[in-house]
Amino acid sequence: MTTVPPAGPAVPEEPLPAVGSSPRTDAEALWSARYGWDTESRAGESPQAPGIAAVTDVIASQLAHRSVRRFLPDDVTDAQVSAMVAAAQSASSSSNLQVWSVVEVRDPQTRAQFADLAGDQRQIMAAPVFLVWIADLARAYQIAADAQAPTEGGEYVETMLVAFLDAAIAAQNAAVAAESMGLGLVYVGGVRNDPAWAAALLGLPQRTFAAFGMCVGHPDPARPSRVKPRLPQEVVWHRERYDLAGQSAPIADYDARMAEFYAGQSMAGRWTARIKARLSGPAAMSGRETMKRSLQERGFELR
Ligand SMILES: Cc1cc2nc3c(=O)[nH]c(=O)nc-3n(C[C@H](O)[C@H](O)[C@H](O)COP(=O)(O)O)c2cc1C
Repeated sequence: MTTVPPAGPAVPEEPLPAVGSSPRTDAEALWSARYGWDTESRAGESPQAPGIAAVTDVIASQLAHRSVRRFLPDDVTDAQVSAMVAAAQSASSSSNLQVWSVVEVRDPQTRAQFADLAGDQRQIMAAPVFLVWIADLARAYQIAADAQAPTEGGEYVETMLVAFLDAAIAAQNAAVAAESMGLGLVYVGGVRNDPAWAAALLGLPQRTFAAFGMCVGHPDPARPSRVKPRLPQEVVWHRERYDLAGQSAPIADYDARMAEFYAGQSMAGRWTARIKARLSGPAAMSGRETMKRSLQERGFELR
């Protein structure tokens, strides 16, 4: 029987912050960071949440997630990538169609091209491995073509959605796996800035689409990233019926906490300003406002 190696440093190794005179539990500290209770305006308060008592090692690793953009040059091994792929394949898949693929890119020149394509995102060159997650209907079409079976169902938006959902769900399983091994990662939606270029770099056939990339490597401990607080649970967690009106007050609270967080990162602005900027119009979409056409050019019919 193989021995499973101990989990990597999913929970930060530095001493956890103390509140008042009583030290926080690991779970409390992770929860605090996740919801921004560790900002100056909340210092000394303890988060009250029943979920804290239910935190497992897996959840602790998830609570400790932060995107990593600064990497050591150390290698990510084939065994580590293979374990990530196995975790990805262990995710649920709509009707078990498994309409996704992943392309591992290590070649520095290709990574440099992706860094360019994504808008000068240098972390793609810094990380030894760049995984590109593919919404993949090509394999399904090939299976049907080999059997001379009809493929009209592949032309519907629903089928495209299934491929993108499958790719995203698989990728996030791989992300959790990577972090459990002590690796760091950041997703890169910038690969959608030029879908045709991304497809050419990877030799993608028609009916496949590079949905997003993922830089994977060893986090540089000299330049750590912080856990970014998320919306209060009451904003995203509805019971029985959806409530929009009740979200305003907790969102305002979060906005204030995020302003503190951004200031700590030498960044200005508010979270709600980012939302408004994104919705303001095509100018804020990095060229991706033409996505419908790009999808059609890649062979997704969008009926
Ligand atoms: C689909 C997707 C695409 C993303 N694209 C980029 C990207 O192109 N560049 C980048 O630096 N971060 C990217 N991110 C990372 C997000 O900015 C990050 O997850 C978010 O700010 C929350 O921060 P955290 O991951 O540290 O909690 C992306 C995340 C997702 C899920």
